[in-house]
Amino acid sequence: MKRLSKLDKKYEIYKKRRSRLIKTLPSDSAFILPSWPLTSYPGNIEGAYQPCSHLIYFTGWTEPHSCLVILSGPPSKCLLFVQKKDPEKELWTGPVYGPKKAKDLFQMDMCYPYKDFSQVAPSILKKTHSLYYTFGINPYWDFQIKNLIQNLNKKKNKSLSLQDPLPFIASLRMKKSKEEIQMIKKAVNISGGAHRAVMKYARPGLNERALYGKFLFEIRKRGAQKEAYPGIFASGPNACILHYTNNNRIIKEGEMVLVDAGAEYKHYASDITRTWPVNGCFSKIQKKLYTKLLKIQKDMIQMLKPGLSFNDIQKKLVELLSLFMKEEALLSSPLKEIINKKEYKKYFPHSFGHLLGLDVHDLTFSEKNRPNRQGLLHLEEGFVLTMEPGLYLPERDRTLNPELRGLGFRIEDDILITKTGAEVLSHGAPKEVEELEDLINSRKN
Ligand code: GLY
Ligand code: MN
Ligand code: MN
Repeated sequence: MKRLSKLDKKYEIYKKRRSRLIKTLPSDSAFILPSWPLTSYPGNIEGAYQPCSHLIYFTGWTEPHSCLVILSGPPSKCLLFVQKKDPEKELWTGPVYGPKKAKDLFQMDMCYPYKDFSQVAPSILKKTHSLYYTFGINPYWDFQIKNLIQNLNKKKNKSLSLQDPLPFIASLRMKKSKEEIQMIKKAVNISGGAHRAVMKYARPGLNERALYGKFLFEIRKRGAQKEAYPGIFASGPNACILHYTNNNRIIKEGEMVLVDAGAEYKHYASDITRTWPVNGCFSKIQKKLYTKLLKIQKDMIQMLKPGLSFNDIQKKLVELLSLFMKEEALLSSPLKEIINKKEYKKYFPHSFGHLLGLDVHDLTFSEKNRPNRQGLLHLEEGFVLTMEPGLYLPERDRTLNPELRGLGFRIEDDILITKTGAEVLSHGAPKEVEELEDLINSRKN
């Protein structure tokens, strides 16, 4: 038997994933996954390409202007539409594989120039009954697929059934393999180191964007290609803006800083949030609220194990946070009302977290758990998820005691579900009060 080279082995993993997908598809189906669109700037400046995570999962393919077509058969076939070799274009944007090299290296049955799709696809898909495709992501491919459907329907004189591919992808992607877990751990470790570096670097008088720049430098220095999502570097009251990405305010003495930022390593994401005092010393009120939130976060992590549903987790977190709000007199209704009437949402409007993988918010539903029923999803060994409780007390909330206004906290860890419980992966970023104070104060001024 021919021994597989390291490179062949890498592509063998993708082939196995495609075979597993094909087994779940009805016969004569076509599963179509286009690349995501390029972001571009005015004036013919090509922007960054975020490779499509589904394409990476099933092929390792990271070029734009491409589309994977998987035919369930029998016989099954995998085809990739890619950019043609074009020395003139490659002079500007760098080399591409081209169809021939792509076919050999990525172990496809056939590769074609993507501009030939409208000519070759109708005959390749002539036996297809069901087409799995998501409209609304890439306008170029939406146009191609609409034409293809019209063309096939005309030929067959009946309508092709259009299906959602995401549940099929999700049911494979939710449980991470050993190799994927290694990659996530590396991304998380890189982020942990970068969070520590930012904590040591920060001081009153700096702009939030300087912290952001420091984080980007530190993750890249440690081997990450880029950040996994737009980083949040929120000082003082900005911590109450859940997806704050402006990152452009001078940090004041005595304030807390909330950093929600994560590295991407070999396309795998990490997602860590830490909240800490910029001057290295929690005030009495900051310490009291932070310590309580940290205890809740740790208790929540303690309960994670296979079999628990997303609904169970959210319900428990809501109970703990509502009790916290009641004890601190942030809300005055009876505890039951705070929970049942969802009054807690005033200060904790989001969910406990999400799955993590090739995407930061990784697919969280399978065929059995459609998007609107993701709460029914049960944890399994090999899932990686975040646990990220928060408490946000808006500056303009006149019902709050003045010393509380503008305080915002979130503590977010990345967690691997094991056979019997959960393993916290993001220990590299400190979260205990003393650890944080020691680290921030250890900087050389
Ligand atoms: N950074 C996005 C999130 O925590 O979900
Ligand atoms: Mn998160
Ligand atoms: Mn986050």
